[in-house]
Amino acid sequence: MDQRIDRAEAPQWVAEELDRVCTVLEKDMKKFGDRFPSACAENGRYEVTENDDWTNGFWTGMLWMAYQYTGKEAFRRQACRNMESFEQRLDEHVVLDHHDIGFLYSLSVGAGYRITGDGHWKEVLIRAADVLLARYQEKGGFIQAWGKPGDPGEYRLIIDSLLNLPLLYRASELTGDPVYRECAQQHYKNVIGNIVREDYSTYHTFYFDPETGKPDHGATRQGFSDQSCWARGQAWAVLGMPLHARISGEGMDEEERTLYENVTAYFEDHLSSDGMPYWDLIFTDGSDQSRDSSALAAAACGMLEYGKKARGLEMLRTLKDLASTEHEADPEGLLLHGVYAYMEGKGVDEPDLWGDYFYMEALCRVCDPKWQPYW
Ligand code: GLY
Repeated sequence: MDQRIDRAEAPQWVAEELDRVCTVLEKDMKKFGDRFPSACAENGRYEVTENDDWTNGFWTGMLWMAYQYTGKEAFRRQACRNMESFEQRLDEHVVLDHHDIGFLYSLSVGAGYRITGDGHWKEVLIRAADVLLARYQEKGGFIQAWGKPGDPGEYRLIIDSLLNLPLLYRASELTGDPVYRECAQQHYKNVIGNIVREDYSTYHTFYFDPETGKPDHGATRQGFSDQSCWARGQAWAVLGMPLHARISGEGMDEEERTLYENVTAYFEDHLSSDGMPYWDLIFTDGSDQSRDSSALAAAACGMLEYGKKARGLEMLRTLKDLASTEHEADPEGLLLHGVYAYMEGKGVDEPDLWGDYFYMEALCRVCDPKWQPYW
């Protein structure tokens, strides 16, 4: 409880970048107050919004990390006020009909419960897990990504969901009820069994037959095409698989380890020569398409989670050298050159909240390897 992120062993550039990051967040906090930054920036500026998107947890998670790193009460106070907003969001069920409940609640209320030890937040966290669990489809055995549960047109899972599973494991741990864990295990099996292609690239989403529950076909939502490999999707696997191994307590057997190494190699082999991925891995050196720094930030956390520390540190250095906002005048974001949804023209070559969050998480992981991320 209340543990600090210790900087004693941190490489100097990591501690200096974290100092800077916390200064940016302190300034941002004055702008957003009890409201929240938008999912992505426009011309480097985040809009002031309500707690009504899938991304609000990243902001609160950053405030918690800033608190643990600096010990400044202002960060803790704001993070606690945000938790009240997350509780109200649950009470009123505001934009919660999707699978991203872990992104929202692990990083806000889950982190807050761990740091404050206040049992009230445990109850809120379990209620959030119930919302996620309600999306579980017995026919097929997966958590439906979007839409009304059971809707035949939306009968699919999505690779991003790997980051939402820790909330279910946590709920089983806190309640003693195995149902959350069992559904998470079945969902994980279905993600890995269907979404990874033969060449170890990944589909973004995968449909099941609503009548029989049989796996049907892969499709994209944010990638270039159904058969291409969306960079952030691959990065969600690079991080999500070792996270699942640790948090489920199951580890990785030989077969899964080989699969993981291959999934990671696909990501690595499709980076451009400067080490930064394009937003879809179909694009290679010489392309005029945008990069997605947020994919590299998530992958860096994956490398660190898996224990490939040197490679994680290298990725983090690439992010700092090519995308840190350190040379910007008065930045609001932490990381430049993210892409939210290229085909919709949304958040292209801009900071976004998850890029900022995973950049900071990777910095914290390197700064203090004993620090426990909030998943
Ligand atoms: N989870 C949605 C995204 O990565 O953009």
